[in-house]
Amino acid sequence: MTVSISPESIETRLFMNGEFVESSNNKTFELLSPKTLKLVAKVHEASAEDTNRAVESAKAAQPAWAALRTEERGFYLKKLADLIRQHDNEFATLEALSMGIPVSEYWQAAQCAKTFDHYSEAGYSNQGTTSLNTPGFINMTLRQPYGVVAAIIPWNYPIVFFASKVAPALTVGNTVVLKSSEKAPLTLQSIRLAGLIKQIGFPPGVINVITGFGNISGAILSHHMDVRVLSFTGSTRTGRLIQEAASKSNLKVVFLELGGKSPAIVFDDADLEAAVSDTQSSIQSNSGQTCMAISRVYVQDTVARKFTALFKAKFSSSAVLGDPMHPDTNHGPQADQVQHENISRYIEIGKQESTMILGSDSPPSNDSGYFIKPTIFADAPEDARIMQEEIFGPVVVINTFTTEEEVLQKANNSEFGLYASVYTKDLDRAMRFVRGLEAGTVGVNCTSPTTAKDMPFGGYKGSGIGREGWVCSMDNFLETKTVLIKTG
Ligand code: NAI
Ligand code: MG
Repeated sequence: MTVSISPESIETRLFMNGEFVESSNNKTFELLSPKTLKLVAKVHEASAEDTNRAVESAKAAQPAWAALRTEERGFYLKKLADLIRQHDNEFATLEALSMGIPVSEYWQAAQCAKTFDHYSEAGYSNQGTTSLNTPGFINMTLRQPYGVVAAIIPWNYPIVFFASKVAPALTVGNTVVLKSSEKAPLTLQSIRLAGLIKQIGFPPGVINVITGFGNISGAILSHHMDVRVLSFTGSTRTGRLIQEAASKSNLKVVFLELGGKSPAIVFDDADLEAAVSDTQSSIQSNSGQTCMAISRVYVQDTVARKFTALFKAKFSSSAVLGDPMHPDTNHGPQADQVQHENISRYIEIGKQESTMILGSDSPPSNDSGYFIKPTIFADAPEDARIMQEEIFGPVVVINTFTTEEEVLQKANNSEFGLYASVYTKDLDRAMRFVRGLEAGTVGVNCTSPTTAKDMPFGGYKGSGIGREGWVCSMDNFLETKTVLIKTG
């Protein structure tokens, strides 16, 4: 169900120190609907001064927030979870309007609420250790908040990233400045969330939500001397810049959740229908705009023809492109013009490098929205750009292999290592791949976006640094202090 939202009612100001404020230089930027290409809203862009003020607010609020009882902090998180759930339809509508995710596919607010629920009760599991191993001493460790945490998030699942970074940071006593992405949806969503934060009456400065571009607000946060942890999700390129900024400033702790070029390997003993269904929905989900999407499929040559025919039939029939507000649509437009252009460019490159077996013959047009049709390439050379670079659209390559050794080497021939899958009924073989695949998550007879809330999520190699998850994320936001107590 959607709700009707008039453009004037969309909050687009910055949220700092408990108040909505206009940008200090009154600068705004325009968000266009990726379906109608019409203006959705004009959003306030955080200036350098605004970004610094947001950090100041967070810094000022932190000691009192950390001094609260754990369940008092949890109480605010719980209330936020409840309110997010009540506004689910509104979030779905804003997301469809601004970024193009079909309302029929919208699960993000529900997941965001669950994460806040979880962390509303998780605080007491923050525990140090004690030791009697040094004669004459009782020693212990304290786990203490860092202070100000910055979160920089992308546009593809904004409210989910908001929760996975902000909730664990807050529950253990940090305060947060979150910068949303300049691409439509996220901004709106995060700012709408800020409205709920205000409604609940979080102490001012505990959560600050600003929107703006990498230059200037993203760069200021990553160089800021008072930001002690920066948790980032987005492109590898930006991840590098953030790491560099951290090392040039205060050596802040940086967590990076970056891109992927995830492979799925399908052996001839696998349940082929299941493998087709899983891998196809993986690359189609969110119009291919998912870090862990399966974008390389390796099928054993003995079943390659059958697999490819099934995959092609499913990809062309199951994607219903259209207005993201329409309940029958399951495949929306790409997020914006830049994304549409990038993907279109890769499709043209792919046509030179290999064979397109599904897709549009003519270059994608954007006359009726930033749509890209499901696209399949076959038999691409391993060093082709469409095999090595993240396309971030509904574009998949299906290649074939003969032996285990060969396919393991090919699957690992990537600077990315976020998610990898193997489909086989042979347990010993599955375990050889579990061990050998260079990826932060390996799926056996399942694939992305399947994850488990309590398991660590993150990347090997260029796909990132650090892990997130319900069991491990609080740790990311806690310093460890060793206390030595000499006893008489
Ligand atoms: P991006 O990495 O430029 O943007 C992500 C966030 O970083 C945004 O909030 C942006 O404002 C911020 N940012 C940009 N430059 C910055 C800087 N120098 N310092 C600090 N923050 C900065 O990604 P973009 O341009 O939105 O998408 C480009 C490509 O990145 C996509 O085509 C896709 O390949 C990849 N990507 C991967 C994501 C993932 O889930 N791992 C999410 C979004 C994008
Ligand atoms: Mg960018």
